[in-house]
Amino acid sequence: EKTNLALVLDSFKDKYSTFPKERGWMGENLYMYRGYWFTSKTAFAIETTIAMQNTFQAHSTDIYLITQPKAGTTWIKALVFATVNRFKYKTNSLLTHPLRTFNPHKCVPFVELEFLSNFPTYTNQHQPRIFGTHKPYTVLPQSIHDAGCRLVYVCRNPKDILVSWFLFANKMSDRPRVQMTLDEMFEVYTKGLMPYGPYWDHVKEHYKVSLEQPTRILFLTYEEMKRDTPNTVKRLAEFLGCPFSKEEEAKGVVEEITALCSFETLKEVNQLGNYRDGVTNESFFREGKVGGWSKYLTAEMSQTLDDITNENFKGLDISF
Ligand code: A3P
Repeated sequence: EKTNLALVLDSFKDKYSTFPKERGWMGENLYMYRGYWFTSKTAFAIETTIAMQNTFQAHSTDIYLITQPKAGTTWIKALVFATVNRFKYKTNSLLTHPLRTFNPHKCVPFVELEFLSNFPTYTNQHQPRIFGTHKPYTVLPQSIHDAGCRLVYVCRNPKDILVSWFLFANKMSDRPRVQMTLDEMFEVYTKGLMPYGPYWDHVKEHYKVSLEQPTRILFLTYEEMKRDTPNTVKRLAEFLGCPFSKEEEAKGVVEEITALCSFETLKEVNQLGNYRDGVTNESFFREGKVGGWSKYLTAEMSQTLDDITNENFKGLDISF
């Protein structure tokens, strides 16, 4: 029987020429599929997306955490993992909790990477399965929709995402990419020529689905998570069908989860080691602040991004 990886490669030979193509982020070829830009090959981004659409089997209890890169993926993975598994892994047992040893990306893997390797890791042993993905709603495997899985979406101020991406991407050394200046990154970002871009379409799509189907998708912003993390933890637990009892609240479990998943705690745990080749664990924890963009972007850049954002989010209740 063929592995999923072989399936992906087979089904994709010679198909590239059928997709609109642009050179974007870090000099990579990006391919447009259903309105979004995807990279190819290394992360098998577009190939896997298409292969998964018809072959991936979701479980109805699965939870999917959807983000644009740098919107708070690592943080939401930690928060949901700790909340959902709090009876299995006590959040006050600081030394033995998996998040005290493993990068949140190990505790909650990206679904496409698991798919590529035929789900060898412990995700199959975990109920419910929790996965991350950057892929937008439109291109998720059909069975995720059919099974009615719960989805959590996190968005973040695009100015902070741009700066975070810029600093992160130039540090990645897993393969030769063109290093970009901030001006160049700004240019491709505003045109949407980023992996899983355009940013604004990604956000709008999930925002709209969250209004139409509030029990299926919870829409959060990084900024509100920062403003009131305990409240976010409670909302997550309720949405995911495991609300905190009065006793748990009185015992401070919500605060324990907040502390366990705080930027400071996770940064300390993840000082050493690699997440994968060329990407250190530590690189997912830079500053963890709201509004840090102002140290990097010019007033003009900021204005341009604000204009694009205001235009795109007109009439929508999204604020940072
Ligand atoms: P900065 O570069 O602005 O510091 P992602 O996880 O989607 O790759 O996003 C990474 C961003 O989230 C980085 O932003 C990182 O510092 C921040 N981050 C990581 N863990 C966090 C946490 N526990 N709390 C708040 N921010 C966190």
